Amino acid sequence: MSFDCSGHIKDFLHELPKCEHHLHLEGTLQPSLLFKLAERNNITLPDLLPKTVEECDERYNNFANLQDFLDHYYIGMSVLIHEEDFYDLAMAYFEKAHSDQCLHSEVFFDPQGHVERGIDIDNVVGGFNRACQDATTKFGTTNKLIMCLLRHLPASEGLKTIEMTHKYYEQGVIHGLGLDSTEVPNIPSIFTECYQDLKQKFPHIGLTSHAGEEGDFTYIEEALDHLKVTRIDHGVNAVQKDELMEHLAKEEILLTVCPMSNLKLRVVDDIGKLPLRKFLDKKVPFSINSDDPAYFGGYILDNYLAVQKHFGLSVDDWKFIALSSIKHSWCDDVRKQELTDLVHSVISKYDGLL
Ligand code: ADE
Ligand code: ZN
Repeated sequence: MSFDCSGHIKDFLHELPKCEHHLHLEGTLQPSLLFKLAERNNITLPDLLPKTVEECDERYNNFANLQDFLDHYYIGMSVLIHEEDFYDLAMAYFEKAHSDQCLHSEVFFDPQGHVERGIDIDNVVGGFNRACQDATTKFGTTNKLIMCLLRHLPASEGLKTIEMTHKYYEQGVIHGLGLDSTEVPNIPSIFTECYQDLKQKFPHIGLTSHAGEEGDFTYIEEALDHLKVTRIDHGVNAVQKDELMEHLAKEEILLTVCPMSNLKLRVVDDIGKLPLRKFLDKKVPFSINSDDPAYFGGYILDNYLAVQKHFGLSVDDWKFIALSSIKHSWCDDVRKQELTDLVHSVISKYDGLL
């Protein structure tokens, strides 16, 4: 089934104010920038990575699963060395997000993937934070950094990373904690102490975790019960259990869904098979996100358009998605009101046209 995605509906989806909650800054490394930074920093890339932009595009279009992608993602990261590399990467994303009318972004980064290569944490956080600030000045967008722990590494390493980044949480430079990388068999409860430790010291921070991408619904339950997260990244396998769906709706747990990622990593073989209609019918809040756009072939607007093409959503459906995305963002109430007003004005503008 394919729905029309041109004309007014395309313009509407472009203009609709968006919030992105599931975007790995390292996953925005386009092959062209990857090769440029490899040259600038004298990095020899391993044979697993294709040698040209075109070959990368072809390879990235054929990942076998999450791990196959991650193997390429960690190689990509290895070209990021200096503060300005991190700045350039993030700034290119913020510019693109702004052009998609993404007005608020909460972005992940993986400090362990850099520190374990000998990169100074100040280069990583300094470059990303400077880009966040410059994006606000230049585009008027708001942005927050969320540090992720790599779940293929032990929790003891996670605790060291938390210790190392204390000062950034204290300064309000990092706003949240997430958990990413190889989901199965690394269950969320392994990281309970990491989440407890940080939340105890910084009660205002946001907690989230990847769960229910390749892992089944029990990974989502674990993240909620043990890590006390208020948001789930991906979460599409929540559909496997009715009581969990009811819980997510009742407690208003936001799922940060990534349609093109789920297709490219073979979580589903067709975007139309994602349980988005069920989420809408059961009032499970979700946002639509790009995850790793340089690897999965599309940024946030591409993901909105892909959803429309497969589901033919109504204006009311889009209103629910846009307002849920704002309500469950980690920005302040003044910003939420500004974004909400903008959503209403775009919906009014297209009244009778869609
Ligand atoms: N790191 C970057 N993208 C990821 C994803 N989709 N799942 C788990 N870890 C990731
Ligand atoms: Zn992700």
